[in-house]
Amino acid sequence: MQNDSSVGSRGSFGASQAVCCGTKAVKDGTICVPCPAKLNIFLEVLRRREDGYHELDTVMLRTQFSDMLTIQQRDDEQVKLRFSDATPDHLRTGVPLDGTNLILKAARQFRERFGIRRGADFILHKQIPPESGLAGGSSNAASTLIGLRKLWSPEAADESLHEIAASLGSDINFLLSGARAAVCSSRGEIVTPVPMKGSLYFAAVRPQTGNSTGAVFRGVDFTAPRRSSASVVECLKTGNVCTLSERVFNRLTQPASSLNSEMAELMVALQSILRRPVFMSGSGSTVFVLCEHRRQAMQDLHTMELRLRRKGWLLEV
Ligand code: C5P
Repeated sequence: MQNDSSVGSRGSFGASQAVCCGTKAVKDGTICVPCPAKLNIFLEVLRRREDGYHELDTVMLRTQFSDMLTIQQRDDEQVKLRFSDATPDHLRTGVPLDGTNLILKAARQFRERFGIRRGADFILHKQIPPESGLAGGSSNAASTLIGLRKLWSPEAADESLHEIAASLGSDINFLLSGARAAVCSSRGEIVTPVPMKGSLYFAAVRPQTGNSTGAVFRGVDFTAPRRSSASVVECLKTGNVCTLSERVFNRLTQPASSLNSEMAELMVALQSILRRPVFMSGSGSTVFVLCEHRRQAMQDLHTMELRLRRKGWLLEV
């Protein structure tokens, strides 16, 4: 599943773990970097580790649903973060703009690591809801590293960026890699890209209440038989969407449902409206259905928004 050159237990990322370079060009010291949401279509928790994290076997997809991060050089050495004027109020709640935000943490580490003595303004146009299992904050951090390298330090090695990413969280390396699909192992930071055939479409919705990742992990039942990501990976490689739906799995769904009854009820309601299996991404609380094609996804989205009176998203991979 993972080759020797990307072994995280040694604390290093080899040449096989690259960094996405899909930024817009730098113009007048300003750069715009998309921050795509991820979706987990498979997640097994293998064991609890001594460092408090959990060993995972998970399949992540990079969707086209994104925040947008604009980075502007400053004349002084300060780093500041603000929302774009167009960011809706309900998406600002719970997202700190101080040094605890992953954008500023990533920027601080980048400057320390590469000895940079320059400042920047970060303007975040938020679309991905927080606490939704779509890795919005992690994606912001990955895009910060991608953007700052382009702006300040083009010679910075992929491996160094992956080391910073892993020190900040478990999902950042996947988003940094730019892979469309990957098996992520260890605590999530070891990324093995999967060549994916065709496109995938999902209709997703989130209850009002988010989930706390730490609390959800603490509720995992380790007595159930373990599952493997191998069959999901096979579906991605062959592009067999019909079989994929039978193999999508998330070990965190049960503990998350126990903690978030609103989400559990939403899953039941969605299943009865669309008559198809409903899944959860990451530690939730976003839930989704797999669609056969874009037309079905748009239809599902329309039905779901009408019946649940809740905004949903079409997630395209
Ligand atoms: O890595 P990240 O900051 O996204 O993780 C948030 C929390 O989720 C961690 O503090 C930890 O409690 C839990 N977690 C875990 N095992 C993982 C990933 C996350 O226990 N592999």
